[in-house]
Amino acid sequence: MPQDLKEQFVIQGLSGVKSLEGTITVGGAKNAVLPASAASLLSDTPLTLTNVPYIEDVLRMSELLEGLGVTIAKDASSLTLHAKEVHTSHIERESAKRMRSSVFLTGPLLARFGEARFPHPGGCVIGERPIDQFIKGFAKMGASIAHEDEWYVVRAKGGLKGVTIFFDLVSVSATETFMMAATLAQGTTVLENCATEPEVVFLAELLRRGGAQIYGDGTSTIHIEGGTLLAFTESVEVIPDRIETSSFLLLAALAGKHISIENCNPQHVRIMTQYLESTGVPLEIGGNHIRIHSNTKPNTSFISARDIRTHEYPGFPTDIQAPLTVFLTQVSGENTVFETIFENRLGYTDDLIKMGADITVWNPQKMMVRGPRKLKGRELMSPDLRAGLAFIMAAIVAEGMSVVGNAYYIDRGYQHIEQRLRAIGADIQRSKG
Ligand code: EPZ
Repeated sequence: MPQDLKEQFVIQGLSGVKSLEGTITVGGAKNAVLPASAASLLSDTPLTLTNVPYIEDVLRMSELLEGLGVTIAKDASSLTLHAKEVHTSHIERESAKRMRSSVFLTGPLLARFGEARFPHPGGCVIGERPIDQFIKGFAKMGASIAHEDEWYVVRAKGGLKGVTIFFDLVSVSATETFMMAATLAQGTTVLENCATEPEVVFLAELLRRGGAQIYGDGTSTIHIEGGTLLAFTESVEVIPDRIETSSFLLLAALAGKHISIENCNPQHVRIMTQYLESTGVPLEIGGNHIRIHSNTKPNTSFISARDIRTHEYPGFPTDIQAPLTVFLTQVSGENTVFETIFENRLGYTDDLIKMGADITVWNPQKMMVRGPRKLKGRELMSPDLRAGLAFIMAAIVAEGMSVVGNAYYIDRGYQHIEQRLRAIGADIQRSKG
């Protein structure tokens, strides 16, 4: 097993005491950097991104792009990507299988070079992750699709045609991939039933800065006028990570005394701030910070709508479902959680139950959480990056020591996580396992 997969976090729990205090700074959004990196393929001039988090997925995406011939210069928090000498449109198999986000490369490669060759990006623990919306959309734009073994070879030698695509379901990566492909298609493309996530709007703004004509982003219908290669004349700052922000808010509500979450965008986490305030957590919300000063435990027993359901933006993000479940184990009340986006994203609850959580899983998408229940530290194995962070949160509020394995998964999405948590008083160390 690669060394990085043996790394783990060792955490001494606070036994339910609310003692964390200080400032925690939010990084740039992983799910904004990944499609933005792919957008570099739409230009033969360099694209510079700033406020880039130093996380594994960004390194993996950079390796994928360098494998295509993109030159990348990076420093602690910026990337300059130059797709002038791209020499292949074949996406490397191993990296593609390891990271769903490789799918972002298909649209730009096809639009610019008339071909993209890629394996099915592969499912993961949270679901099968099909790409039917991509295959259908490329065909509608005039591409030919060959499926050999597990490879897709998609060609559009005469270029892509601008068309109207009505997505069968709301897909963040499909919305972003076709927005990128359409910038180089012939004519107008209209995308309907689009995702409206802040990361979609960020990508549209980035493409407009490169000269693309896009409007309607942030709504369910987006119009793109096809044109020539983009040219990025100034660097683009990546938006703050709203999933990190929401996770830190939940941890602060459970174990924080005086916490300031800095460099965030409160507008992107309204569902979470509204929910926490409804549980009695007082929040001080500023332009780019959210502060929590509280000694009282949150309480959900007086919330009428007990049913938490994950939802496309601006509803509860599926990526905070696991941290939110940890929160629910610690507050008084009975709450159901309905995971509507992915078909298999409750697997991590077995380990929470072994820690002492009172969770009844009714089916792969629905469960009941009763709180408060004392959690006891134990060995935990992160199944994916979001559940991994939820395990760190559970270990911090638990009694005794926990070991959270598969640190690599957590490093995929959270830069320097142990340093940032230690800075607010958590007892967390990384060990080589
Ligand atoms: C993005 O994944 C995010 N990843 C995910 O975050 C996030 O959970 C998800 O959006 C939902 O918000 C990135 O942005 C890199 P979808 P994506 O296409 O685009 C189904 C994390 O931890 N679907 O919006 O792959 C799909 O199976 C990750 O940071 C099809 O059926 O998700 C799912 O059930 C996890 N066919 C639903 O749509 C398709 O062709 C929504 O998925 C495409 C998607």
